[in-house]
This record gives sequence, C-alpha cells and structure tokens, in this order.
Amino acid sequence: MKILMVCLGNICRSPIAEGVFKHEAAERGIDLEVDSAGTSGFHIGEAPDKRSIEFMRTVGIDISNQRARQITHQDLEQFDIIYAMDRNNLRDLQGMCHKEELKSKLKLLLGFESDPSRQIVPDPYYGEMHDFERTYKLCKKAADEILPTY
Ligand code: 4NP
Repeated sequence: MKILMVCLGNICRSPIAEGVFKHEAAERGIDLEVDSAGTSGFHIGEAPDKRSIEFMRTVGIDISNQRARQITHQDLEQFDIIYAMDRNNLRDLQGMCHKEELKSKLKLLLGFESDPSRQIVPDPYYGEMHDFERTYKLCKKAADEILPTY
C-alpha cells in the first residue's frame, strides 16, 4: 500500500502528515509506504518549515530529512490513495486527473468526518506554533481513524 499526502507547499502540513503516518504505521506493524508532495512548486527542494520540524520534535518524530517536491502525473498513477489536506488541494488534484478512474484515489485526509467544517486541515503557514500543533493533532486523529482500516 502506497499513500501520498498533499498540501499546497509541501513544507507545513503534508510533511507532518507523512511523519505521523510513517511513525504510527511502524508502531502498529503496518507495512505502509508514505510520501508527500505539494500542488505548487513554490518550495521545491526545501526542508519542512522550521515550525513543523520543531513541533514534530516535541512528539519525538524527526521530519528534518524531508525535501519538498511538486506532485506529478506519475504520482497519480503510482500511489494507491492520495490524501489532500483541504478542498483547494483536492480541486487542484482533480484538475490534474486526465483519466476519470484516477479521481477515485483522491480523498480529503479528514474525509471521515461527517461535519464538512471538520474535513479540512487548515493552512498553518501564516499562523503560530499552536497552529502547527493543531495540524499534528488532526493528522494524528486521521492516523487513528484510517490506519486500522488498512
Ligand atoms: P503547506 O503550507 O501547504 O501546508 O505546506 C504553505 C506553505 C507555503 C505557502 C502556503 C502554504 N506559500 O504560499 O508559500
């Protein structure tokens, strides 16, 4: 099973989601390949945002080796599930799908929430440390919800 976490810049949210899912899958003995990418190319080659690295360090997960990349058409073919952090990311991904069947791989990471207002991971980029903590908590909740279904 291969999953891809996607946000806009691939420096704040999706690196945290990648780190959480890798960590939680390993803890649970689940064989899972996890990667992340951005819909934009704004930060290609960069390490995650300092605040993402710093917060994740407080929960014992090192994401400092990750490097930002932009999603490709090949990713849409190769990954089994592609998780978008918010509806803009989802819309951008849908727009990249030249084949209708690829769209069935696209999901919101928090799509299991029944209340639509709780289905997105808000962008913490212009926020503060507690916004990064919230990103982590939402990703952890998603892992707790989703990993048992794999
Ligand atoms: P991310 O956050 O999509 O969670 O990585 C952002 C990072 C960078 C920008 C926007 C959001 N930016 O505009 O550069």
